[in-house]
Amino acid sequence: MTHDREHSRALELLELHQREEAPAPDAPIRRETARVRIPEGGALPRSEALLERLYHGELVPREKKALVIDTRRCSGPYLVSIDDAPMVLLDACSQIATLTHGFAHPGVLRGLHQGRFDRSLWANPDSTVGEQPELEAYAALVKSKAPAGLDHVTFVGAGGAEANEKALRLARLHAPASAEGGERRRVLAFEGSFHGRTFASLAATSNPAKRKGVDLPGYEAVFCPRDLAALRATLDERADELYAVIIEPMMAEGGDIHLTREFLLGVRELSAAHGLALVVDEVQTGFGTSGQFFWWKHLGLGETPETAPDVLTCAKKAGLGVVLSRWADPEPTPVNVASALRGLIHAEQAEDQAELEGPIRLHLDGLAAAFPALVSNLRVAGSAFAFDLPTAGHREAFINQRFARGMMVYHAGEKTMRFRLAACWEQRHLDDLFARIAEALRRLDDPTAPALVKEGGTRKRARRVEIREVEEGDWAEIMAVEQQAYEAERADSEDFLREAARYGVGLVARDVETDALLGFCFGGPLERYADVPGPDRDEQRGEGLGFYAADLTVAEDARGRGIGRQLKRAQVEWARAAGYDFITGRNKIGATEEMAGLNRSIGAYPAMILDGQYGGDAQAEYYRVPLHAPRLTKKHARGHDLSAGIQAPFGPRPSFMATRELVGPTASRLNMSNWATLDSVHYAEHLRAILPRGTAHLYTTSSRDELVDKSLRCLKMSRPQATLAIGLEGGYLGHNTAAARSLSDPAGFGPRFALFDWPRLPHPEQAGVEATLAALEALIASRGAEAIIGVYVELVGERSGRVLEGAAAQALRKACDAHGLPLVVVETATGGYRSGAGPWGLDALPKAFLPNMVLWYPGGQLGQIFVDSRWWIGAPLQLISTWDGDELSMIRTHEHLRAAHRLDLALAIDALDDLVVEAASWAGEGARIGGRGLYRTLDLGPSDDPDKAARALAVQARCLEQGVRVGVGAPGTLVFVPRLDVEAPSLRGPVRAALKAALTSA
Ligand SMILES: Cc1ncc(COP(=O)(O)O)c(C=O)c1O
Repeated sequence: MTHDREHSRALELLELHQREEAPAPDAPIRRETARVRIPEGGALPRSEALLERLYHGELVPREKKALVIDTRRCSGPYLVSIDDAPMVLLDACSQIATLTHGFAHPGVLRGLHQGRFDRSLWANPDSTVGEQPELEAYAALVKSKAPAGLDHVTFVGAGGAEANEKALRLARLHAPASAEGGERRRVLAFEGSFHGRTFASLAATSNPAKRKGVDLPGYEAVFCPRDLAALRATLDERADELYAVIIEPMMAEGGDIHLTREFLLGVRELSAAHGLALVVDEVQTGFGTSGQFFWWKHLGLGETPETAPDVLTCAKKAGLGVVLSRWADPEPTPVNVASALRGLIHAEQAEDQAELEGPIRLHLDGLAAAFPALVSNLRVAGSAFAFDLPTAGHREAFINQRFARGMMVYHAGEKTMRFRLAACWEQRHLDDLFARIAEALRRLDDPTAPALVKEGGTRKRARRVEIREVEEGDWAEIMAVEQQAYEAERADSEDFLREAARYGVGLVARDVETDALLGFCFGGPLERYADVPGPDRDEQRGEGLGFYAADLTVAEDARGRGIGRQLKRAQVEWARAAGYDFITGRNKIGATEEMAGLNRSIGAYPAMILDGQYGGDAQAEYYRVPLHAPRLTKKHARGHDLSAGIQAPFGPRPSFMATRELVGPTASRLNMSNWATLDSVHYAEHLRAILPRGTAHLYTTSSRDELVDKSLRCLKMSRPQATLAIGLEGGYLGHNTAAARSLSDPAGFGPRFALFDWPRLPHPEQAGVEATLAALEALIASRGAEAIIGVYVELVGERSGRVLEGAAAQALRKACDAHGLPLVVVETATGGYRSGAGPWGLDALPKAFLPNMVLWYPGGQLGQIFVDSRWWIGAPLQLISTWDGDELSMIRTHEHLRAAHRLDLALAIDALDDLVVEAASWAGEGARIGGRGLYRTLDLGPSDDPDKAARALAVQARCLEQGVRVGVGAPGTLVFVPRLDVEAPSLRGPVRAALKAALTSA
């Protein structure tokens, strides 16, 4: 490998240092389950030090991230910083409305520890290939809840903006021909709307400040007041220019404006009358927010196709973009399957949020009665509520206090305070939140109110306690405490406890000074409790891995001093040392809240609810405390996959992933736009160490398409007049957002592929660089250089395999420089060491060649934009989206980079080269090889060959029959993108044989 030793050593050192800091996957869990905490003077030294490492040299925008979060410590509504004395906040917006059940979702924990994430946790499968049980189950569930007639479900990589782009694409694909014979280029949206920050979604967002500098003339949306007469008039006048109508049933960002059933029904009818698709944006309102799965149905709409929308979009709580539609999606995209699974788990219990509405309403009425001059216009549905303050000034005074009052809230519209709770909120959390809101309202005029004052310090110190195994002399006191503690039907007998101690362990806690018995706990192998409710139906009983916690009791006068917690931790440590995999137990629901909280704090999740308990109709929760991280078991991989290397560069189960703690980031997903974590800082530090040549800063996105939109928006901030982005023939930058489609070659996609009328230059490899430059100069002569946002080129075409050689790159660079044009390089097929030249394909080009921006889609729900200092915009807010990447995808990508820099790819690259050269000869005349390194292509014939598209698919199918999966890119083009650690003999042996057979017979 050619990259230099010194660089390798620097990466090794960085890794060593980071691994020392990172939590071990099996380390004990300590979740905050009890209260808000604010450290003395608001000091957060560890958060601050980590943020300083992140921002150093303005690697990323120095934005408002206040805390570094420890996802292992978050639980329910509590968001917890990484500091030794942490800040613990009530997240009253549930991570910008993305969580149905708060942090450490029990269903996600259950899924993680019981194998449901096995296919998607360690690496991301390519979800466009083969069976996808998670996506199929997910689609079936949302369809079963959907308004009538929405029979198709498709998923997109990022979030709401991209879901809306896909919805608009489907709408435009099915729009009627314009009577005027012109193109339909506009969307009708409503005043107050927000649909996201990619180009087409943003165009439909009414707030001009948010759209500043990104409007593209000719494609602006038509904004209509929220009034049916106005809508009727607007449609009569302009329907011919439109291809869709888009609306949120509750306009969230616009100020939690609850639209009426009558109005929405009118919008439905008027759109239909003009033959226009109605897109209902439920990105923020779907997934049980209203108590019903969809807000549209909460309003009593959608029972029949006449009252249903044509397309409905979800994101946020859905984990990724979900689009329900009357039409099938002809252009599916790979997505992050783990995010889809999180969304599916959210969906399974989304309606739990309904139960919050009553208790919230009571509190809200109380608030309005207590502050009649401040609080007005109460709205509540399900887990969402809002109220208005008199002015924007009041709103600011409220927001400025949020950390001091221990709660995360956001405003919406001009003067609305907007809250999004989650199904995990209990009455005590609600009482606490509303007390905090009241305090904030009382202190709106108090200039000292935002100051952070210590709150929720450590508990009263426990007396000095000794915990040891039970001895004969303890029994009399044990039974006295047991009988005092419980009603008769719950007290255990001495025989029962003695047996537990014999086969398992009994631990007692005694006061070191007075020797008083403070408490005890007993338990033993699950198998010995086969007739106890809970263990009796535990599917894992019989494996010898479970420890059943049969009894934990604290003497009445010793309660509230942390004795139970100490006993429980001692029991966990005992069971872990004894080799158990998990502890189970049961808590009577309604009687043992504190015990349930204690168990959750050490990592418990509810495994099942038991009815008819304790000799009556009481319920019990049967909980499980995992003692180990989910296990990465090696499965024998069948066949040879040469198609999934972008999503899974080290195959489906890379053993190095076992070193990483993944439960926190998966079960407590954060908005990376607002928070950092230790892992996100580590990942950024690694990227800093391998920045593509010429670049100095980075942005993060949640998908491939978002790369395009975000990069264009960044460039447009410096070039507000520019309206054209320029790509190359054969190029591919994504096919969901209008911008990505308009930059990509339409070959192989459906009609009306591009929305924006953007030109493509001939590819230098095909036409010669002179032709490329001549086309660029002609364009500049006719439209002006200032009209061009940037020139986008792939180093290796992902669909075409066309290569941008050094001389052509330099010639393009020179031409762009002559006109002050940004040159954007796309590294999806070459980045992450795949080119064989170093971390980036750029490393193979002459050193003098410097791009202005580099876009890299590393798979999963992530994208990286690297920018030079010339075009960097340090203000983040215009460039964010809800997710801004996915922490799990970051962790995987980070490990891929660490592993890849140690690999020597030379043998595999040679073998793949030999393979494609031979394959070209088997394919016959006109076949053309493309690509570089471990990304190669074989174009089966000249571009005017009408049969080659079908032939490529036939070859793909024949290879598959022999256990070899190859990809297909542009029509007629086979793509070979193996894992980076592919072994040369497999390419020279079975893969070669299969390909030869397929090519010589197809
Ligand atoms: C109604 C609505 N649509 C779209 C979006 C954009 O979603 P994302 O940020 O995931 O792209 C949002 C985000 O707040 C939203 O509230």
